[in-house]
Amino acid sequence: MSQRHAATGFPDEPLVRAVNVTKAFHGTEVLKGIDMDVHRGEVVVLCGPSGSGKTTFLRCINQLETIDGGRIWVDGDLMGYEDRGGTLHRLTDKRMAAQRRDIGMCFQRFNLFPHKTVLENVIEAPMQVKGTSRPQAEAAARELLDQVGLGDKPSAYPAQLSGGQQQRVAIARALAMDPKLMLFDEPTSALDPELVGEVLKVMRDLATRGMTMIVVTHEMGFAREVADRVVFIDAGAVVEEGPPDQCLGNPQHQRTRAFLSRMRREEAAHARAVVQTVTGTADALGAVGGLDDESTPSPDEAAGRHPTT
Ligand SMILES: Nc1ncnc2c1ncn2[C@@H]1O[C@H](COP(=O)(O)OP(=O)(O)O)[C@@H](O)[C@H]1O
Ligand SMILES: [Mg+2]
Repeated sequence: MSQRHAATGFPDEPLVRAVNVTKAFHGTEVLKGIDMDVHRGEVVVLCGPSGSGKTTFLRCINQLETIDGGRIWVDGDLMGYEDRGGTLHRLTDKRMAAQRRDIGMCFQRFNLFPHKTVLENVIEAPMQVKGTSRPQAEAAARELLDQVGLGDKPSAYPAQLSGGQQQRVAIARALAMDPKLMLFDEPTSALDPELVGEVLKVMRDLATRGMTMIVVTHEMGFAREVADRVVFIDAGAVVEEGPPDQCLGNPQHQRTRAFLSRMRREEAAHARAVVQTVTGTADALGAVGGLDDESTPSPDEAAGRHPTT
């Protein structure tokens, strides 16, 4: 493993190291021994069928779920536990909260405070959790809002913004805590198609700035362009991983191929719906002919996005 990472040029000590992570809900094992290293500055895209354990794994990384077995380190810290002479002892809530503070999380639903302005949403955690002074928190928040393209919206309320704008506020809010690691869980899947690009752009910028990111997404265009590595998860286990060209372009495992084919079919169906909406006729379907041929990229795929998750 370290050889492959050396080849990518990432430093050898990973920022995130997950070893044999297991997790069950009501006796059903949903994570069946996940191993994953994520290096500093690396962007890892996690994909896989619905219910395969992607969200659970992200939630285990930042201790929103407790793991049943295995270990997770972030920046050398064992998450959620203290190792005393080989025996694991659960950390107090306070110490867990301190670990979680360094990890930014961005979900499908933005969960902004509806009664607070954009600026107030972004300064809330630094002021409440870190004790940052208001002037300092506001100055930092304004910079972050500029970074996500919302420098002109500090006084707006969430309801006055589009979904894409709200998600960009949510990203700025996470960044305001100066995280070491950003976890994204399908950040664009609740958005109208025309708003997806602006959120992906912010994420791409973040990657360019060197942020370490684990991104659950079915936006394969984004994965191809931005990911250093794609990890395909099915039924709680890593099936296949590698550079996007390899993992998406030439998948080795039947389950990966089946998943990617299904996504292409969904893209094709989406493309048909878009054409029908735009032209108002079914005749225009000829314009997207060949969609059932899995070797032919759909217009959406060519444009680098995926409609549903
Ligand atoms: N809090 C929970 N309680 C019980 N089952 C859960 C819980 N969270 C997730 N699961 C189950 O764990 C499995 C993996 O879910 P999830 O991690 O959300 O998958 P994904 O994000 O890949 O769609 C699913 O079968 C889901 O129903
Ligand atoms: Mg999920």
